[in-house]
Amino acid sequence: MEKQLNNNIQNIEVPGTRQFSNKVDQYPDSVDLTLGQSGFDTPEPIRKAMVDAINNNKLRYTHNRGLLELRQVISDYIFDRFNVRYSPEEEIVVMTGGSEAIDNILRTILNPGDEVILPAPSYLGYEPIIKLCGAKVVYVDTTKTDLVPTADSIKEKITDKTKAVLFNYPTNPTGTSLSYENIKEIVEVLKDKDIFIVTDEIYSDNVYEGKHHSFMEFEEIRNKLFVVNGLSKSHAMTGARIGYILSTPELSDLVNTVHLYNTICASTPSQYGAIAAFRDVPKEDLEAMNDAYKTRRDYLFDRLTGMGLPVEKPTGAFYIFPDISEYSNDSFQFCLDLIEQEQLAVVPGASFSPYGEGHIRLSFAATMEELVEACNRLENFLKNYKK
Ligand SMILES: Cc1ncc(COP(=O)(O)O)c(C=O)c1O
Repeated sequence: MEKQLNNNIQNIEVPGTRQFSNKVDQYPDSVDLTLGQSGFDTPEPIRKAMVDAINNNKLRYTHNRGLLELRQVISDYIFDRFNVRYSPEEEIVVMTGGSEAIDNILRTILNPGDEVILPAPSYLGYEPIIKLCGAKVVYVDTTKTDLVPTADSIKEKITDKTKAVLFNYPTNPTGTSLSYENIKEIVEVLKDKDIFIVTDEIYSDNVYEGKHHSFMEFEEIRNKLFVVNGLSKSHAMTGARIGYILSTPELSDLVNTVHLYNTICASTPSQYGAIAAFRDVPKEDLEAMNDAYKTRRDYLFDRLTGMGLPVEKPTGAFYIFPDISEYSNDSFQFCLDLIEQEQLAVVPGASFSPYGEGHIRLSFAATMEELVEACNRLENFLKNYKK
């Protein structure tokens, strides 16, 4: 039956994060730093709103774009945060996670043969979708520019086939971010071109240094901008599966059409949970979670540098991306050996494009106890690991 399959599926693999997190079950004493999900419980007001929704029989479909009440609180949140207004009626669509948002946007804009410029190392959820659309990924190597894409490095990659540039910051897997100046220079390059800008800012509330700036702040590109965001990371609710897109009325209508054939609407109880996330979770509780992530980041950074591994200090997201090239240029094998010898699961850098090779990704969304144990195991492993 193989020849009956879609040609593009042959090029798709199970992501490195899952390959290693799925292995964890085979090792009873394992420590798992593979997935970007919070070790904290989902805040109580969110859980209560979801349970109440179920008990009140809020289990029917909602509007395809999501509950208007939820779109309204998203719109207010965006306005408070970035001083930009997106209309709840026309410019917001609630999705089943940022993942569905990415899929729907890419399927809305891509034709076979199109090129998508992607700064790398990059989140592993983009390339497979681009390939499934028959389009091509054109990487921008950020390893020479402090792990952030520059305006020049993007400009160099633009061709007649470029359909979109896809940004993600704070970045999974490196934890680096774009400064206001950075974004401004990129906007200058793209503003007069027939190229979409897709920006995945799902970690915009998980920032430990400075302030997060969004592409939304630049009115001159609003007509070509798709913003992806969601609550999985900011509110420790990965399993509720709530994300959203912001775009123009015309573009969001098209994405909404793809979305409604895809899932009809996001889960209704989860949408009620999301309203509570914006409305009822005290800001201090979210700050306390971020403070804890920051403490964990500092701990991991100190331990990794103490082991002699070169590493950039992340300014956001949940990940740290040390350079292990002194020990191995095959990060996949390194991670296999690490889980087999020390029962420590981390993700090979090569999962995040060829530009991630020679690195591993550790998530610091785990608990402090797990991080201490993980560092002890990694240190022990490196003592005897030879290239
Ligand atoms: C950069 C990035 N975008 C999107 C997602 C998907 O998030 P979700 O579908 O849970 O909203 C993730 C998850 O790890 C991510 O790291």
